[in-house]
Amino acid sequence: MIRFTLRRKFILAFVGLALLFAATFGTLALYRLREALTGQVQIRAKVVAEELARESSRFLATPEGQTETPQSSRLTRRLVAGTVLYAQIIKDGRVRFTDGQDWLATPTEGRLTQPFVMVRRVTPAGAGYLDLFRAIPEYTLERQTYVRVGFPLTEVDAAIRAERPRIALASLLMAAAGIGAAFVLQRAIVDPVYRMIRGIRDLRRGDYSARVTMRTTDELRRLADEFNAMADAIQARDAELARVNEALQRANRIKDEFSAAMSHELKTPLHAIRAYAQLLLEGIDGPLAEAQRRDVEAILAAGDHLHHLIEGILRYSALEAGALEPRIADVDAAAVIEQARKNVAHLARSKGLPIETRAADNLVVRADETMLRQILINLLHNAIKYTTQGEITLTTSAQNAHVLFSVTDTGQGIPPGHEHDVFEPFRRAGDPSRREVDGIGLGLAVAKRYVEQQGGRIWFEPADGGGTTFHFTLPAGTRP
Ligand SMILES: Nc1ncnc2c1ncn2[C@@H]1O[C@H](COP(=O)(O)OP(=O)(O)OP(=O)(O)O)[C@@H](O)[C@H]1O
Ligand SMILES: [Mg+2]
Repeated sequence: MIRFTLRRKFILAFVGLALLFAATFGTLALYRLREALTGQVQIRAKVVAEELARESSRFLATPEGQTETPQSSRLTRRLVAGTVLYAQIIKDGRVRFTDGQDWLATPTEGRLTQPFVMVRRVTPAGAGYLDLFRAIPEYTLERQTYVRVGFPLTEVDAAIRAERPRIALASLLMAAAGIGAAFVLQRAIVDPVYRMIRGIRDLRRGDYSARVTMRTTDELRRLADEFNAMADAIQARDAELARVNEALQRANRIKDEFSAAMSHELKTPLHAIRAYAQLLLEGIDGPLAEAQRRDVEAILAAGDHLHHLIEGILRYSALEAGALEPRIADVDAAAVIEQARKNVAHLARSKGLPIETRAADNLVVRADETMLRQILINLLHNAIKYTTQGEITLTTSAQNAHVLFSVTDTGQGIPPGHEHDVFEPFRRAGDPSRREVDGIGLGLAVAKRYVEQQGGRIWFEPADGGGTTFHFTLPAGTRP
């Protein structure tokens, strides 16, 4: 398939036009020449026909002119010798005298309706001639008495034959000039377009220094100037963006480093607080009164909560820093589910919420075990946090090349319109009254990043009869 580029179209159109013009010129020139030359012959032929008619009128009055048989006439011979193809005198519609070519079989076609008729014809040999009919003045048209002369156009044909090569040469020169002009003009018009295309392509590929130079002073130059101005603006904005971006990245890095460092520093005293609270509860430093025990339990619970928050922040900072690369292996789903369940069992028990797990047997996933455990803990944690009564269900099933995990609760549900933002960091759904449940909005952000890093997908939907179901998939593995 030929590709019709602008260059090809331009040249084709121009060459086509040049050829058309040249052909039209040649044809027209030949036609005009033939007309002009024929016109001259016509005038001469007319004069001859008039003369012959006059002479014939006189001749018909002589005794010889009364003869009935057609025969050569000295008169016509004298008059027309050498200049005409044939000459005839027709009296009362019948040929009386004829002279010249034999091939003129039919004397007339139909009746003569005008005193003078001239028809252009071609001999059987292909030569053009004029067939003239001239009524003889003394006879009315009804008498059908007239002379007929054939006047050759051989001179015209010869002249045209002689002219033809010159006209053809002129046409050829015209066509050649047109084709030459096509190539020159296409350079002037199409080349700048290609230069513009190259400039735009370079700019699109990120070379913001790309500029187009145009030596002309026309609209193409204006186009190039506008393009260059646009490239200037883009280059300036790009530099500005890069600067801002760098500043932002620096600020972000400082923020991450700060929160990681802070969280880390907080963990040490927190460990101590939790450890000592545990010691007190175990009665190692002596028995506690009931009221004291409740207070220490409250201290431990608050410590656990703080620990959860700090872990969340640390995990998220590590993700942001890109420091966490999943270590993918074949993982036994049931074992990880059991670990996650144990992790949140204490919280679930404290709220009186049973956790039911329905895992298909022998499910193996391609996953990072630690990440998978954390995803499950975050989802279970939410399910327990945002549910006051009912139960939590965790199911798994094999789906073609994936394993589907689903965590369903019977809680307050997620209001519509939060399909995406609950997965954003530090976003919490619903009105502030829900905020009395502790959290900073990192659990789902971490879960989503973990799932996607392992080649899976996470989403949620309202559960039947209230509550929410969170689903996520991970690639299925093979049991060794
Ligand atoms: N099972 C659920 N039922 C109702 N709402 C939920 C549920 N899970 C998440 N949400 C909503 O999505 C928001 C984001 O959840 P996410 O786990 O990211 O943050 P969080 O639980 O508020 O805090 P964090 O997990 O960091 O302690 C929550 O604040 C809550 O509004
Ligand atoms: Mg959460």
